[in-house]
Amino acid sequence: MRSTSRSPALSASSSSRSSSTRSSSPSPATRRQGDSVPKTPDTAIIQIARNTSGARIVLDHVTKSYANQPVAAVEDFSMTAEPGELIMFVGPSGCGKTTTMKMINRIIEPTSGSISIDGRDVLSLNPHELRRHIGYVIQQIGLFPHMTIAENIAVVPKLLGWSKNAIGDRIDELLTTVELNPRDFAHRYPKQLSGGQQQRVGVARALAADPPVMLMDEPFGATDPITREKLQAEFLRLQDSLGKTIIFVTHDFDEAVRLGDRIAVLSDRSQIEQFDTPANILASPANDYVASFIGHGAAIKRLTLIPVTDAVLGPVSESSGGPITVCDTDTLRDALDSLVLTGLAALTVVDEARRPIGSISVDRISAVLGADVATPTVQASRP
Ligand SMILES: Nc1ncnc2c1ncn2[C@@H]1O[C@H](COP(=O)(O)OP(=O)(O)OP(=O)(O)O)[C@@H](O)[C@H]1O
Ligand SMILES: [Mg+2]
Repeated sequence: MRSTSRSPALSASSSSRSSSTRSSSPSPATRRQGDSVPKTPDTAIIQIARNTSGARIVLDHVTKSYANQPVAAVEDFSMTAEPGELIMFVGPSGCGKTTTMKMINRIIEPTSGSISIDGRDVLSLNPHELRRHIGYVIQQIGLFPHMTIAENIAVVPKLLGWSKNAIGDRIDELLTTVELNPRDFAHRYPKQLSGGQQQRVGVARALAADPPVMLMDEPFGATDPITREKLQAEFLRLQDSLGKTIIFVTHDFDEAVRLGDRIAVLSDRSQIEQFDTPANILASPANDYVASFIGHGAAIKRLTLIPVTDAVLGPVSESSGGPITVCDTDTLRDALDSLVLTGLAALTVVDEARRPIGSISVDRISAVLGADVATPTVQASRP
């Protein structure tokens, strides 16, 4: 389950969203791919890179129009990701998620607008240098087939001139972090790994140089539901200790709820329909479009975000006892699952030492959701 004790930066309030901090640096609006890149003092990127625990990303009125396309792929997109925040982009195929993300590390150049990382206009930075300091997991995993797993992970550290020993240590550390035994996996080739294992290596490779910013484009897209859930749990654990600023693209709203500090629900041309915390979006979808994205079961999805201790627990005597208990670190969704599976009216809630601290019932869970369950709030209709 999603940790409820994220760092302060991770629980940045939605008041910071879409803050418009137009950069005073020369307008990047007219620059295009292939234009000469202004020479940047290395120190700008080094300073960003040093900030390994997350940088602020600001996209300000960013537009991308592809040649010969009648409409823009991304139109007037403004958003701020706070240091250490995990932002999810959710939206239908073709709405512009990948294009928006790729402009941050300049794989795609914006047509207009500005993008900054820690206050530095990325269009003024050397794009090759920039990319080495931004972890990137692409939509199709994209491991180099002719390189071993170790060589795949070593690509960026090598470009950055790390010593052989430092690279070797980092490969071992990262493979262990993503639960692949270095002795078993380091010397294999990607095709000798399962899809889920390749996804893990993709994440390890993106983390290799300990970048402050990670861009992840459907990193767990190609995996079965069980592997995906495992990868999500690992990833959350990792992020809780690393605190990177992460933009994470997904089609899957449940994945967005599970992982995100904030979710941007996008429609065509990367229009932001709502940008808020998972709990706020589930409780108050901004319009019918967002509500349709949430799909059925908004109340159940909200339960995955609420710790069982947020309920007013009943006396232990209300529970009929028995071996099945609910842990005080579980969510209300876990509690509901256990109630449904056991068919009992109430279950005992226990603390870490397994001491009973109260009881939980369906009524007490409903009380937490309050009136929202009876009348889902759809605040506004789309024009
Ligand atoms: N190189 C390109 N030239 C022209 N149009 C493009 C190019 N790349 C993307 N597009 C168009 O821009 C729009 C946004 O594409 P993008 O890849 O950002 O979508 P997406 O939201 O990531 O979709 P998906 O969920 O399928 O990956 C689409 O209509 C797509 O056809
Ligand atoms: Mg895409």
